[in-house]
Amino acid sequence: MQRRSLSTGLLCRSASGNDDAIITKMKLKEQMTADGSTTYFNEEFQESYHSRHGAYTEALEKHVQACRISELAASTNELKILDFCFGLGYNSAVAIIEALKVNPEIQIEIIGLENDIEIIQEIAKIDFPAEMQVVMKDFAKLKDEMKIQSGNYSLELLLDDARTSIEKIEENYYDAIFFDPFSPKVCPWLWEQDLVATLVTKAKPGALISTYSSSRVAKDAFANAGCKLFEGPKCGRRDGGVLAQKTK
Ligand SMILES: C[S@@+](CC[C@H](N)C(=O)[O-])C[C@H]1O[C@@H](n2cnc3c(N)ncnc32)[C@H](O)[C@@H]1O
Repeated sequence: MQRRSLSTGLLCRSASGNDDAIITKMKLKEQMTADGSTTYFNEEFQESYHSRHGAYTEALEKHVQACRISELAASTNELKILDFCFGLGYNSAVAIIEALKVNPEIQIEIIGLENDIEIIQEIAKIDFPAEMQVVMKDFAKLKDEMKIQSGNYSLELLLDDARTSIEKIEENYYDAIFFDPFSPKVCPWLWEQDLVATLVTKAKPGALISTYSSSRVAKDAFANAGCKLFEGPKCGRRDGGVLAQKTK
């Protein structure tokens, strides 16, 4: 028999069936990636939060560079980002860091969608790459506060099933969307056509939406939502992920 615990993941009854011998199996396992940045393996989904190539590198190349955050930041003083499946917040943190390098005056508004407070609570425990530490110290506050305001950015976390929270946010509003659920194989409901179509309505016309997945499911969902498709950066994989552009 298996039961799910609200706070620690799976509780596995011992082979003896003795209640006193119930042991806790942690849902989240810390992993080191090739670039020295930390990620986790999720036992429920049987998948890692990032590729082995590097959590930081994946955020930088597959999401921040793919969505042209530096170019956007160089051309505007207001940037709005939707971080779909926020997790440890790498994508948003790296976006803030890269945008500030080219525009110290910029104001960045970020909405993060995430349904698991346990992964948010891990942010405070990780030894992040030096460049990320200031931002991540702020992000660690998300375990107690759903909105943080710093000099150059605001970050609001909607802690709920993304299929529900996506309905609450504005349309034609975001300059870039980082779309980062677990894979279509283990989390197919976050890649469904209707949800992807709703997600696309949140982007401004012309905005880019980054994913790491090169699957047929991802390609079809964004193409059917009326997006123009590009191949994103490969970042250690054979194929680059779908990079979608909202056309109108
Ligand atoms: C691949 S990880 C995201 C990694 C993240 N972008 C980062 O930088 O750490 C997928 C995330 O989706 C979240 N998730 C899974 N199902 C969800 C749902 N129905 N609604 C919102 N978030 C969900 C997981 O908790 C996990 O944090």
